[in-house]
Amino acid sequence: MLRTHLSSGQLSFNQCLGEGIKHAEIIFIAVGTPSGEDGSADLCHVLAVADALGEKLEHHCLVVTKSTVPVGTAERVAQRINNGLSRRSIRLNVTVASNPEFLKEGSAIDDFMRPDRVIVGCDEPAGHELLRRLYAPFLRNHERLLAMGLRAAEFSKYAANAFLATKISFINEMASLCASLDVDVEDVRRAIGSDKRIGTHFIYAGCGYGGSCFPKDVRALIRCAEQEGIEPGILRAVEARNALQKTLLFQALREHFSGYWQNRVVAIWGLSFKPGTDDLREAPSLVLLDALLLAGVTVQACDPVATTAVAQRYSQAISSGQLRLSTSPYSVAEGADALVLVTEWKQFRQPDFVRIRGLMRMPVVFDGRNIYESTQLAELGFLQ
Ligand code: UGA
Repeated sequence: MLRTHLSSGQLSFNQCLGEGIKHAEIIFIAVGTPSGEDGSADLCHVLAVADALGEKLEHHCLVVTKSTVPVGTAERVAQRINNGLSRRSIRLNVTVASNPEFLKEGSAIDDFMRPDRVIVGCDEPAGHELLRRLYAPFLRNHERLLAMGLRAAEFSKYAANAFLATKISFINEMASLCASLDVDVEDVRRAIGSDKRIGTHFIYAGCGYGGSCFPKDVRALIRCAEQEGIEPGILRAVEARNALQKTLLFQALREHFSGYWQNRVVAIWGLSFKPGTDDLREAPSLVLLDALLLAGVTVQACDPVATTAVAQRYSQAISSGQLRLSTSPYSVAEGADALVLVTEWKQFRQPDFVRIRGLMRMPVVFDGRNIYESTQLAELGFLQ
């Protein structure tokens, strides 16, 4: 799709900011906002763009922040642009807006084309109007564009990610309780999710959330609350639960092996933080890998796409032979004393367990995503 637009000239890329913005009616700032040392969002890239705009802008326009930024950032962007303009003695009408993105890694185009909602934050009606026109083709239902003030739009993005992370940490805590009470958490998810007020989506228990967004945004919101003098008790619990959750698979293995790690071989299925990406940022697999390698265990890990990134990170363990990577789920099961599912890629959903049982030295599965029927595994001869 992009190729067609490139060859028609409708889309072009440019490294020169002045050229890129020359005739732009709307300018989007979509650079990253990584975690700073204290957990707050590092705005250096956003503000650098604002400074560059202040140096280059020659015409009236709407500047829109797409990046996930703390409340008040768009106002700072406006200030930085205006400072640059006044240094050049130019008077321009530059409006700022906030239009946070809600795209998921791996389904970004689909999420963009069919958004649940588009949030437009601006303190001037003209900004709302312009963005409403821009998004009109993507909104089957025009009520999906939610117009609000700048600050509310900026905050909404953090609140959305923090709420989703809260749902996950909540169900993960329920899953621990369920395991202890011999209850299937999947039954509970369906039972509570059938209440429309709760919903079945995005409350799958697992081995913790990762990625470049939830961990970073929860941390940034905690930092923001601290700065405002508000105790972020819920957010702290969400983060703590998630950190604990990422250690549970290792704890379960330790219990299973009674702490005796010598000559153990563990197979891992799935390394990326979620299916459909090779992204390892804050992935639960890293916590498990680090702990197993430290315990001296030999690890055979499989992922359809993330092995290159893992190989770079664990080059030493690979050259010493302690870590072997493969894209074949069956080859890593060979000779293993335990198989751990960490990321629920499609190819791991319905494997040939009879074949796997034959390949493993000790047939036992630790299901970090609750996708297998434990009774079925028991019937097939896997240890419980
Ligand atoms: C997330 C949000 O879902 C997007 O709406 C948002 O735009 C994006 O962050 C962002 O801020 O840019 P993403 O990080 O791509 O998107 O990944 P998700 O699909 O949300 O998954 C995040 C983590 O939660 C994964 O590790 C996944 O395994 C875990 N998860 C998700 C669960 O453990 N249980 C669930 O029910 C859902």
